[in-house]
Amino acid sequence: MIRVIDLKKEFRSKRNTLTVLNNINIDIQDGDIFGIIGMSGAGKSTLIRCINLLERPTSGRIEIDGVDITKKSGKELLKLRKNIGMIFQSFNLLMQKNVRKNIAFGLEIIKLRDFKIDGMSDADYQKLSFFQKRKAKKDAINKRVDELLELVDLKEKEFSYPAKLSGGQRQRVAIARALATKPSILLCDEATSALDSMTTDSILSLLQKINKETKVTIIVITHEMNVVQKICNKVVVLDKSEIVASGITDDIFSNHTSDVVKRLVGGTV
Ligand SMILES: Nc1ncnc2c1ncn2[C@@H]1O[C@H](COP(=O)(O)OP(=O)(O)OP(=O)(O)O)[C@@H](O)[C@H]1O
Ligand SMILES: [Mg+2]
Repeated sequence: MIRVIDLKKEFRSKRNTLTVLNNINIDIQDGDIFGIIGMSGAGKSTLIRCINLLERPTSGRIEIDGVDITKKSGKELLKLRKNIGMIFQSFNLLMQKNVRKNIAFGLEIIKLRDFKIDGMSDADYQKLSFFQKRKAKKDAINKRVDELLELVDLKEKEFSYPAKLSGGQRQRVAIARALATKPSILLCDEATSALDSMTTDSILSLLQKINKETKVTIIVITHEMNVVQKICNKVVVLDKSEIVASGITDDIFSNHTSDVVKRLVGGTV
């Protein structure tokens, strides 16, 4: 479970202080597909960046399974980041690496001494020689990449480079890469905003399938109402740094009273 408690984020400069998030309280249950919706500049990306500590909150807490993550640093922070995958509007792929290498990237950078083979006891792993460990790592990465290629349905593009892929295929690679370390949380920042409506639908269906099969908790940030309506079971509406509505998605959109929800529903964003 993820709990955001009284979160505040300010950006301070010499001249002024900008409060970007204020009084933010959110509970996200394991396995939720949780939407955070709001107009441009509402603070959505800043909120998601606080959850994986790319930004430090000014005050308040973020708890994952009861542990406050906001004070973490060093090795603990790296461990936390391994547990949180992220995808973006702009895909952020490595253009000079093919699909397989893009997906493997997060696994390859894990140091050999920190690498653990699934299903092998620590004691057995320690008995391997350096070369056996290196080979075991390579085999494990290849196996994981094969699984991920199947999950995102990109097997036939495994040796293609990002420049030769469509937007939807690029986002599939990004999703596979984000899931490589088997995180329990996947953050999506406007993941479908650069895609046409049919491709958006196929990426949303993929996220739904992944949520069902792997139980990963998904946090979806978007300014597109249809994205939230299609896949999110719960939603908070962010407006000018504060939460103005929160609850079950259908309730929020059928009983909308706040101006910002009306504007989002009206599609005049
Ligand atoms: N590093 C920073 N320093 C100063 N101000 C920042 C910084 N990052 C974000 N902001 C400001 O915080 C506010 C919220 O930005 P944020 O990117 O969180 O909005 P958003 O809801 O994601 O918008 P969009 O839908 O356009 O992506 C904006 O006014 C932005 O200019
Ligand atoms: Mg943003």
